[in-house]
Amino acid sequence: MGLPQPGRVLVAEGELAARVAELGRAIARDYARANPVLVGVLHGAIPFFADLMRRLPIDLTVDFVRASSYGAGTTTSGAVRLVVDLTVDIADRDVLIVDDIVDTGLTLAALKRAFEARGPRSVRTCVLLDKGSRRLADVAIDYVGFSIPNVFVVGYGLDYDGLYRNLPHVAALDGV
Ligand code: IMP
Ligand code: MG
Repeated sequence: MGLPQPGRVLVAEGELAARVAELGRAIARDYARANPVLVGVLHGAIPFFADLMRRLPIDLTVDFVRASSYGAGTTTSGAVRLVVDLTVDIADRDVLIVDDIVDTGLTLAALKRAFEARGPRSVRTCVLLDKGSRRLADVAIDYVGFSIPNVFVVGYGLDYDGLYRNLPHVAALDGV
């Protein structure tokens, strides 16, 4: 048994680019005059965040958080911790959380709760991938790139034990 490897491509580079452009158009329309705070969830959101922000021809502010992650496994512990916090004051601001994937929803639910306690005008969520079948937390996802089946995926920011974030596409992980 070797290391699990990226296998079948689930979302190709071209599909990612096209969908990110569509999301950008919708978000730019909705936040045209809002000067939103775009919050990227490190590290998984990095490629999606970087591509999405360049599809938003509006005034915006960027910031980042890091939530405690899965570690080496492929299932959630349920505990979510903010290990890197915002540097921007989000009071009276429109916040859009940008993450790579929503699985149980525990991460986004906890982030949303934490941000809502700071007096923002609004907090909404945007994820590239949605594994709807595994939802445990009741959290609204306002913008979704793709709905995917319940398989562990890597690439375009998503990792397995820190690996494969640099793939330009999203692939299923084989051998888990
Ligand atoms: P949730 O709290 O269960 O919704 O999990 C969200 C986080 O778990 C994501 O931001 C990812 O970091 C990680 N995660 C969930 N599913 C996958 C996957 O299929 N591949 C890689 N990371 C994943
Ligand atoms: Mg993540």
